[in-house]
Amino acid sequence: TGYVTLDRGFKNTGATTSAITYLDGEKGVLRYRGYAIEELASKSSFVEVIYLLIYGHLPSHDELETFRWTVRRHTLVHEDMKKFFDGFPSKSHPMGQLSALVGALSAFYPESLNPNATDEEENLTIIKMLAKMPTIVSWIYKKSLGHPIVYPSNNLDYVTNFINMTFGQRTEDIDINPVAVSAMNTLLILHADHEQNCSTSTVRIVGSSNANLFASISAGISALWGPLHGGANQAVIEMLEKIKDDGGDCDKWINKAKDKNDPFRLMGFGHRVYKNFDPRAKIIKKACDEVLDKLGIDDPVLEIAKKLEAAALNDQYFVDRKLYPNVDFYSGIIYRALGFPTEMFTVLFALGRLPGWIAQWKEMRTNKEPIGRPRQIYTGETERSYVDISNR
Ligand code: CMC
Repeated sequence: TGYVTLDRGFKNTGATTSAITYLDGEKGVLRYRGYAIEELASKSSFVEVIYLLIYGHLPSHDELETFRWTVRRHTLVHEDMKKFFDGFPSKSHPMGQLSALVGALSAFYPESLNPNATDEEENLTIIKMLAKMPTIVSWIYKKSLGHPIVYPSNNLDYVTNFINMTFGQRTEDIDINPVAVSAMNTLLILHADHEQNCSTSTVRIVGSSNANLFASISAGISALWGPLHGGANQAVIEMLEKIKDDGGDCDKWINKAKDKNDPFRLMGFGHRVYKNFDPRAKIIKKACDEVLDKLGIDDPVLEIAKKLEAAALNDQYFVDRKLYPNVDFYSGIIYRALGFPTEMFTVLFALGRLPGWIAQWKEMRTNKEPIGRPRQIYTGETERSYVDISNR
């Protein structure tokens, strides 16, 4: 009933108001709670940005210390959750494991199921989600290697603890590469929120039915997995490798991407909202050069990426359609330099996007948004008579 406007892919439909992230796609502007992404990426830590997104302001020194200690108290994951790893095939994709494990948190922490939780109870679930995510992500990586897991260390900050659980051998006796910590902080900040993208809209729509936080985040992880969204970071490296192995002829691949009869798209290029440049891509490109330089890594794939970018930016097809490198174009090269296998890249995106998903889920509940329920325009059969099976 009533008038329905069709807007495939919600290209022009606003589904909510939000005070979290401001994005101007024409001018290439991105701000979290009013702060420019360039400033946050160069001055803030990821933990500060988590606090900013979820609670709305940059924490004071005391607020930050209290927050850090509250999170640290919940970094352990229920021991029974380790049994999941025995059940997953050893080569199963980390994103499939992540969505399953995060969804399973609601079974281990059932207090999260109460849709009428007080603000304090709801905040505790938020803290648990934030605290357990790095532990789960690093355990997924350890299991892929067949290595023993490393337990969280409550003496370390959020990102350092994650790097230690991932690349370290022990909880204590820690020797962590500061370049890795700094690069991870930058990448996680750049991925932390991006208003109503596919996965965030998923988190909101699932949460709008009063589904619990863990279930909503698990759904967001599944949405992020697709190669048109967060999965693009894995797809970019696979594409660059292929171009390199094929002799490095970028023009040939540009032509493939332009060919409408070829399903190939230039991965890491184009964006629904950015039509000038993606400010995150600019920061990442610079960080990429710096990190590889500091680590003394010479990755031939970086040269291919730069050649491909230059070729695309000079091509009329990409100019006409305003297609520019997005956040995923250079991020994988940094993850790779830090030692992450390709299949872990989208999991790292999820770790970064987590505070954004949480902030949006919390805002949706605070604003008492109605259940998300889009309409449709029916194009099927009109009414017809049932035909008995003997006459079909
Ligand atoms: N390679 C070749 N052609 C492209 C590309 C590309 N990467 N992206 C868009 N186009 C063309 C598309 O074929 C269409 O051409 P035409 O007007 O002739 O039909 C035009 O540009 C507009 O594209 P669209 O698909 O209508 O745009 P959209 O807003 O629906 O899609 C997108 C946005 C990001 C899904 C798309 O640009 C894409 O598939 N990019 C590659 C995947 C990727 O890098 N995704 C990561 C996005 S950023 C991070 C994130 O969200 O996780």
